[in-house]
Amino acid sequence: MTSPVNTSLAYLDGAWKPLTECLIPINTHALQYGTGVFEGIRGYWSGNHVNLLLLRQHFERLARNAAMLLMKSPSVDDMCHLAIDCVARNQHRQNVYLRPVVYKKGTSLGPVLVNVPDGFMCYSQPLGDYLDTGKGLKLCVSSWRRLPDNCIPTRSKATGGYLNSALAKSEAVMNGYDEAIFLNDRGQVCEGSAENIFLVRGGTLITPDNTADILEGITRAAVLRLAKDLGLAAETRPVARTELYIADEIFLVGTGCQVSYVRSVDQRTIGDGNRGPLSARIQQAYEDAVYGRTPAYADWLTTVV
Ligand SMILES: Cc1ncc(COP(=O)(O)O)c(C=O)c1O
Repeated sequence: MTSPVNTSLAYLDGAWKPLTECLIPINTHALQYGTGVFEGIRGYWSGNHVNLLLLRQHFERLARNAAMLLMKSPSVDDMCHLAIDCVARNQHRQNVYLRPVVYKKGTSLGPVLVNVPDGFMCYSQPLGDYLDTGKGLKLCVSSWRRLPDNCIPTRSKATGGYLNSALAKSEAVMNGYDEAIFLNDRGQVCEGSAENIFLVRGGTLITPDNTADILEGITRAAVLRLAKDLGLAAETRPVARTELYIADEIFLVGTGCQVSYVRSVDQRTIGDGNRGPLSARIQQAYEDAVYGRTPAYADWLTTVV
């Protein structure tokens, strides 16, 4: 991802300041121990306005995850207003990405979550494609296993847990792949470093279920809804590694990657290596929804005026 523009205005613990002036002490708990939870939210430029995608769903997830990790977030309503304010203050006229974080801002020593004060920050930056949605991704199964739920819950979107993602993504990139697929500690297919995964087999969409140590992705839920509305069969169930190699189609979904089809996994070509018909339908339906072209999904969008 590109770095945020230095002149952009960001929110830190009650004040709006230029991003470069949003400073935290070096002994901040979240920096020392990875004790934060975050969200990634996209806004799409309609030609007139930025429309924030599934804004409330993101902040509801953030509030739930903060509580799980014994942190207190601002209210969902307050976070939604701050996010809208962030886009408005920065006068974005292109697609944007928002990064809100609830974090342990105390400076006490020791990796404990109780009796350490919480903080909240939010910044925005322009963002085009995170992964190339048009070219077909080359994936590998990572040698790194996914964090188990009983270790650092992936569903919590905890900042510290992203070291696991960083190890897998780095290994993939160093070996010439676009992205890594995690298996969980049971050896089942889990997700990408920052994406959920869908396979297509015999006309059915398949994605790992909520107990597979995945992040319960908001795009994944949106894609399941699109599939239902398109009359496509979809299953959430455990997925074995070798199902990847024999799938008719595979695509990744997420706020960052949107809907990106997969060309190969571990050097096995998926289908004929091109975007498959169901991947194409889902990608088109998703794009139409996020750009406000489908009235049925108008409530997914919050317009920043
Ligand atoms: C590990 C992981 N899985 C899946 C996703 C996709 O989730 P969402 O669609 O909510 O952005 C993300 C990105 O946020 C992620 O970091």
